[in-house]
Amino acid sequence: MAKPAKTLRAVEMTTPKKRPERPVIVDKNNAPAEKKRAKPAIARLTIGDKINLELPIYEAIEGAPCIDVTSLYKDSGYFTYDPGFLSTASCDSEITYIDGDKGILRYRGYDIDELANKSDFLEVSYLLMYGELPNKKQKTWFDNKMIRHTMVHEQLNFLFRGFPRRAHPMAIMVGAVASLSAFYHDSLDMSDPDQRELAAFRMIAKMPTIAAMCYKYSIGQPFIYPDNDLGFAENFLYMMFATPCESYEMNPVLADAMDKIFILHADHEQNASTSTVRLAGSSGANPFACIGAGIASLWGPAHGGANEAVINMLKKIGDVKNIPEYIAKAKNKDDPFRLMGFGHRIYKNYDPRATVLRKSCHDVLNELGQQDESLLKIAMELEKIALEDKYFIDRKLYPNVDFYSGIIYRAMGIPTNLFTVLFAVARTAGWVAQWKEMVEDPAMKIGRPRQLFVGSKPRKYEAVAKRK
Ligand code: SDX
Repeated sequence: MAKPAKTLRAVEMTTPKKRPERPVIVDKNNAPAEKKRAKPAIARLTIGDKINLELPIYEAIEGAPCIDVTSLYKDSGYFTYDPGFLSTASCDSEITYIDGDKGILRYRGYDIDELANKSDFLEVSYLLMYGELPNKKQKTWFDNKMIRHTMVHEQLNFLFRGFPRRAHPMAIMVGAVASLSAFYHDSLDMSDPDQRELAAFRMIAKMPTIAAMCYKYSIGQPFIYPDNDLGFAENFLYMMFATPCESYEMNPVLADAMDKIFILHADHEQNASTSTVRLAGSSGANPFACIGAGIASLWGPAHGGANEAVINMLKKIGDVKNIPEYIAKAKNKDDPFRLMGFGHRIYKNYDPRATVLRKSCHDVLNELGQQDESLLKIAMELEKIALEDKYFIDRKLYPNVDFYSGIIYRAMGIPTNLFTVLFAVARTAGWVAQWKEMVEDPAMKIGRPRQLFVGSKPRKYEAVAKRK
């Protein structure tokens, strides 16, 4: 990795900066051994005239109560059936709460718009991991810890060399992040809280470095080392856009918008990629490999890949006058086209992240003098028309987090195929916090769903000569 000549500082011949001592941290995950639940109410289930079950109901602090069906099969011989998990809770969690009807998103009880406007990504990562906002000492220690894990092992450079330069960056991310399990053998014993914490620091801190390496590799520029004097988002932009030939001018408006975007994408309850990380982690798999599995799931266009798909859709629409044709396509059941960046499994009201991003979008485009950005004009008109259309209103389809993020990234000069990589950089804080919460839950069991078998009845093997 190279460092821009002009920012190379003479190596100070002083002793290394004193690293802050670890402060006392009240980690909410180190909860008492068993879950303290209020005396559960009872749900009565009658099946036919022989089976009468009483199932405990657990009240939530916020949101829907849950009927505990863990004993259902043992007591009745029945499974529950819920492909896509529309009505199934996979775990207890204290980390994030979403109210889709009210457009509420809270990390550890704090509203997302407050965190996005008043906090920073590393502070939010601390909050997600430990459950409380850090005091000054804790924040200094945590920020310093993170900064010291931003570099990756030099050998990783050779892994990159094995990929074609035109490889999709998410394909590289899946491989590169999972490969970290080959480098760090001192943070693999998941029963050791210190090793779990070290693995968590490494995952959050190294993601921006690997993401920037994906970009540099794709354009044939040398990798840029992280600069420990910079903040998390600043460092990412620096590693993305600095070159060894000239000093890099940080734009604080862009750095602030980047940090805000990271906060907005940090966690989101048990979404597809987070559930993937939990399921992989429930077998005790290596944490880096679990995050690699989460990246693979996030890549899908129905999930984190939507921000890239939004830009491709806006480019395809090409002009405001073509919007009605695409709205009609989105409504046509025989047409696979969907309005990317619209709709959400949980938000049946505006995605609160889209509200914050919409404002950031205008701030960034104004800062860069791109107010007339053509795709933004199409996006604003598309949003206006869709929100007045009965089809979208009836189905409560609103712009989600991915609708605006792509326009901001594009304005910043980030290539479209890197958008989901940035989503993964941010979501690693949530994946790590959720993985940590699961691994530290004394009641944790390996995830192993059941099925409704609708295949062949028993049949005998026939020699190939006799088969039709
Ligand atoms: C993310 O889970 C999370 O939290 C995810 C996420 C996170 O932070 O982790 O929030 C990030 O993934 C945001 C979503 C990004 N994806 C997109 O923008 C892709 C476009 N959206 C759709 O693919 C869809 O809305 C989903 C996948 C997001 C949600 O799908 P659901 O909940 O399974 O809803 P559905 O497919 O059952 O749709 C219900 C109806 C259907 O019509 P009907 O059969 O009832 O007539 O709404 C229609 C759908 O056809 N519909 C759409 C649509 N989304 C749903 N029609 C047109 N365009 C769309 N975008």
